Parts: sequence; structure tokens; C-alpha cells
Amino acid sequence: MVVYSPHKVILFGEHAVVYGYPALSAAVDLFAKIYLIPSRTGLQYTPFVQRTLSYLGLRNVYVKVETRVPSGSGLGTSSMIIAGILMSERDFTKEQLAREAFNIEYETQGLGSPIDTSTISAGGFVLTNGSEGIPLWSIEKNGISWSFSSIPTRNLELVIVYSGSKGSTREQVAKVRKFYERGSLARDIMSRIGNITEEGVRAVMRGEKEKIGELMNENHSELKVFGISTEQIEKIVTVGREYGYGAKLTGAGGGGAVIIIPRDKGKLLGKLREMNYLVFDTATTSAGIFKRAE
Ligand code: PMV
Repeated sequence: MVVYSPHKVILFGEHAVVYGYPALSAAVDLFAKIYLIPSRTGLQYTPFVQRTLSYLGLRNVYVKVETRVPSGSGLGTSSMIIAGILMSERDFTKEQLAREAFNIEYETQGLGSPIDTSTISAGGFVLTNGSEGIPLWSIEKNGISWSFSSIPTRNLELVIVYSGSKGSTREQVAKVRKFYERGSLARDIMSRIGNITEEGVRAVMRGEKEKIGELMNENHSELKVFGISTEQIEKIVTVGREYGYGAKLTGAGGGGAVIIIPRDKGKLLGKLREMNYLVFDTATTSAGIFKRAE
């Protein structure tokens, strides 16, 4: 049995979602293959993998993960692996999987929203804390509640570029929080990001690439003020704006990945590869995590 677990991107609203504003994320057509293989040796894993295995009462298994996406790229690797391990052993509903995978992630990493696990479980476009779409589920933790809905629409072509360095969600969230606690400038930015996300959802529902790109550019400019972009991210965003409809960092920032809505895809890919970036020519996918016999 092999589990196919998708990576995810945040199209609009990262960081602002931490303060209750909406965010739009999507599963992308980059699936990791996850296998559990019996093993006699006691293998050591990162805490979240250990925790997932002990949740299932499993010992002496080797977790094999095949993906071309580097960890720490803000594309949901840890959630994808937790959900993948859970799915390979049990037949959870999408909602159960989103909840259980988030609990495990939260217990081991101690922060973060359930966006990643919900997006990977549901597939397609997922709106957090918004009013549009088909309601999926709500998740609560420590007095904070997130509601999720599914936005049914056509898939969107995306070029994803790894900036070459990992970003730490914990560090970037803390950095933004300091800013947020200092005064009204950050609050205004968050509220503008909230408006951009709402407009972004409507543009995605209508498939208006030009508008989506324009709003991504605006969202990126707002995020930049928090100091969470990097020199490499800026280089990629510049190329993305030249050959695409728009570009922005995705996820926590401080490294990680950039998403671009391609316009002249041949030239865009050519230029990025010439600059030696790791590039994924992909699209959103309506499929969430699934398993099948290999
Ligand atoms: O884990 P990442 O890199 O996809 O970032 C998560 C998005 C944040 O809004 C920055 C944090 C969160 O938990 O919502």
C-alpha cells in the first residue's frame, strides 16, 4: 500500500490568518509517496514521525518518503508526512484525518494553524475563516477556532520555485507577532491582507489569472514590510512578475518557496532554470491525500 500525499501552497493570507483573517490555500499536483516498511532495527525519527507512529502503536517500521520537494520549503512537508503515515494504517474520513494530523503536529511543534493538514486532507482550494464555499469542518485549539470551506473551481497553473534556503515557521511567526504587538501599522497591514484574500477568493472562483496575479503582487508587498522576504525570494519574485501574472512568497517566509502564476511559461521556466533554481511546473489539484496498492 502506498499513500499519495499532496504538498500545499498558501495563495493568500499567511500570517494574517494567525490573527483571525481569512487565508486561501490549495493542494498542488506534487504528490509525495509514503510507504511504511517493516524493519527490524529500531529507527530514530524526527519527533513528529515518532509521535505519529506511537499514536498508531507502531514499532519497527521504516517510513519511506519520496518527494522532490525539500523540507522547510513551506509546502507542507511535515503535515503531509503525518497524514500519510496515518492514512497508510487507518481509513480515516477527511475530517478525522485533518483533526488527528493537526493534533500530532501541534503536540510536537507546539504552534501553527491546522491549514496544512486540512488542505492536504480535503484537496482543492481550501478557505480558512472565510464566508465563501462549501463548509468542511471547524477545528479548535486553546481557545482559537478555525473554520474551513472548500472552494470548488477550475485548477490553476502554478510555477513553484524553491528559494534555496529553509524558512522557520516558528521564527517568522514570532517576528511578525512582535511587529503586530507594537502598533497599528501591522494591524492595518493584516486588515489589508484580509481584504486581498477575500478579493483573491472571488478571482480564483472566476479563474481570472490576471487579477489573481495582481492580488498576489499586492499580498507579497504587504508581507515584505514584516521583513520576512529574502534576497533570493525577491530575485524570484522579480522574474515571476516579468514572465507571469504575479508572484509572492508562500507560507511563513524567511526562505522557503515562491509561487508564480505563469503567463509566458516557456520563458519563465527557461529563465529560472538558467538561474539554477529548483522549479516545479505544476497546478492545483482537486485530489486530496489518497492511498492505493502499488
Ligand atoms: O508552515 P508554512 O510555512 O506553510 O506557514 C504557515 C502559515 C503561517 O500563517 C505563517 C502560520 C500558520 O500557522 O498559519
